[in-house]
Amino acid sequence: MKAVAVLPGKPNSVHLREIPQPKLNDQPHAHVCSIPEGRAVLVKTLQIGVDATDREINEALYGNAPPGGEHLVIGHESFGEVLEVGAKVTELKPGDLVSCTVRRPGGSIYDKIGRNDITSEETYYERGINLCHGYMTEMFVDDAEYMVKVPPQLRHLGVLSEPASVCAKAIDQAYLAQQRLQVWSPKRAFVLGAGQIGLLATMMLKLRGLDVYTLATKPGPHRKSEIATAYGATYVSTKQESMHDLAKRVGKPDIIFEATGNAEQCFRSMEVLNLNGALIWTSITGGTHEVKIDAAKINLEWVLGNKLLVSSVNGNRHHFELGLQALSHGEAMFPGVTQRILTNPVAGLDNYQEMMRLLVEDKEALKVFVNIGV
Ligand code: BGC
Ligand code: ZN
Repeated sequence: MKAVAVLPGKPNSVHLREIPQPKLNDQPHAHVCSIPEGRAVLVKTLQIGVDATDREINEALYGNAPPGGEHLVIGHESFGEVLEVGAKVTELKPGDLVSCTVRRPGGSIYDKIGRNDITSEETYYERGINLCHGYMTEMFVDDAEYMVKVPPQLRHLGVLSEPASVCAKAIDQAYLAQQRLQVWSPKRAFVLGAGQIGLLATMMLKLRGLDVYTLATKPGPHRKSEIATAYGATYVSTKQESMHDLAKRVGKPDIIFEATGNAEQCFRSMEVLNLNGALIWTSITGGTHEVKIDAAKINLEWVLGNKLLVSSVNGNRHHFELGLQALSHGEAMFPGVTQRILTNPVAGLDNYQEMMRLLVEDKEALKVFVNIGV
C-alpha cells in the first residue's frame, strides 16, 4: 500500500513509497511499546491533516526515523474508520470513526500513569514526527488504548481532532494551574495568531464565555477574520493596531493564548498580560531568534502581578476527548463555522507534492489535509 514518507536529515525528501499492508497482529512500535494481546485495532485512513511540523520535518529541521530504518512515514493528525478489532477490544467496533493520540509512552513516571503527553524523558516517541511511523498511509494498526472515538456527527471535522486536542489541553492546563488563585474569573483573552490553533483556541475561549480578541498581521476581511468574527471574537490586524495599543484601549488580557509560531511574540506578549493572568505558549519555534526585551520591567511586573506562564504541547486521550467535546459544543453554538477552517483538501496520497507545496508556499492555505479513504 502507499505511504508518504521523508528521509529525516535530508531536506525536501518527501516521497511516496510502497509499504506492506498492516495486519491486526502487527507490532508497529515494538521498539517503544508493544500492543497487548488482543488489543490491536486495524484502521482505514480517511483523512490526514498536515501542519507546520510536517513542513519542518520535510525541511529536515525536526523529526527522526524509527531505529533500523532511514525513512519516516509522516502524518500525525489522524482520522480513520475501524476495520477490525482484536478479541479484547470492547470499546470499538468496525465502522467506528477514530483519531489517535500522537505520543507513545517512554519510561518516565508520567508515561507510566498515562500522561505520556508530559513525559519527563528527553526522548519522546511521536507517531509521524519522532521515532515512530505516522498515519499518512492507506491503513494503520495501533493499540485501542491510543484511539479516541469521533462521534459520527463530527465526521466532517474529524481531521481536526488532533489540533483541537492541542488547544483543549493548553487551555485546560491554564485553568488547572490557575486554581492557585482560589478565585479566578477571567474576562478578556487575546489569541495571538489566526492559524488553525489560533482559531480553534478562539472558539474554545468563547465557549468559556470570554471576551476574545484574535490578533494576526493581515488586515481583514478575509477568511481568518471572518471565522474569528463568526465565533463571536473581535479580529484585530496588528498592522492596524498593535497588541500594546489594543491592551491600552480595551484593557489587559487575563489570558493570552500564543500561537503565532514567532518566538519574539512569545516574549512581547509578556508585556501586556493582566495581573494574576495566564500566558499560554503553544508555538514550536525552530532555529535561533534573539530579541531585545526589557527583562527588568517584565520581571518586576510579573512578580508584583503574580503572573503565570503555562507551556503546553501534545495531548493524551483525555485532551482529545476535551477537544472533541469543544468541537461539538462549537457546532451547536456556531453552526458550520469550524468547517471553514478546512480550506485545502488534497485528493489522495499521490498528490503529496501538491500537499507540501500548499503547506510551504500558500499563505492563504489555512488547513491542508489529504483525503485518503473517503
Ligand atoms: C503536534 C504535537 C507534538 C508536537 C511536537 C505538534 O505539531 O501536533 O502532537 O507533540 O508537534 O512534536
Ligand atoms: Zn501538529
